[in-house]
Amino acid sequence: MEFPIVIGNWKMNLTPHESEIVAKKIVAGLPPQGVSAEVVLCPSFPSLEVVERVIAQSTISLGAQNFFWQESGSYTGEVSIKMLKEIGCGWSIIGHSERRIVLRENDDEINKKVKLALAYDIVPVICVGEKYEERQAGQKDFVIMKEVASALKGVDKFNRLVVAYEPVWVIGRGEAIDPEEAQSVATLIKYTLRDMYSHEVVDNKIKILYGGSVDDQNVSQFVDNELIQGVLVGGSSLKPETFLGIINKLTSKC
Ligand code: PGA
Repeated sequence: MEFPIVIGNWKMNLTPHESEIVAKKIVAGLPPQGVSAEVVLCPSFPSLEVVERVIAQSTISLGAQNFFWQESGSYTGEVSIKMLKEIGCGWSIIGHSERRIVLRENDDEINKKVKLALAYDIVPVICVGEKYEERQAGQKDFVIMKEVASALKGVDKFNRLVVAYEPVWVIGRGEAIDPEEAQSVATLIKYTLRDMYSHEVVDNKIKILYGGSVDDQNVSQFVDNELIQGVLVGGSSLKPETFLGIINKLTSKC
């Protein structure tokens, strides 16, 4: 049986010192032999190295929240995929709605980042999801299909990738969407992917996650089916006890 994926997205929270404390608590809370889940922590750039040291002896993996779509060069203030690779990142979130909306990241840039991540053997965690207005306007399915298709345009060879459905309007809200709705969107994502790749590739190489106000109380409802194979967690991943509770709930099912 494949393990569920639990990704903690710390966003622009926690200084390196605070990140070290939170990461140590998470590591200390996991059984030394590891858990039957793939756990990934995505701290901010300045905290990556310290978190990498804390998790080095554990089964937790390191992920980034973003990187630039060019490999190197004169791009003041940006961080390259090669830099992330060198400090031990095996995963990166790509196209999070906060970047799409606040930082105006577009589909073309997201597509370039997916290709770069795969070229560097970093698992891309592609975020897709509708805004509240789009949902109200009946555009939810269209937005999700478009974001999936454009993120993966021209992407034909890969070992592994992740698509995370995050309805923008529930991120950070403290109340998640109805799990049945998350499952129906996961089905939509799966069909969109099957239009692009063989069933075998979709079933074996791509995982679909849910994100948006996940906590230790609601997580089981989202991963209670074959379609959603893990969660992307924001606020609750900053609280070690809650994050460990999420991992616990998921692994107790395995
Ligand atoms: P949240 O954030 O869990 O705080 O809603 C999820 C995310 O933005 O990835």
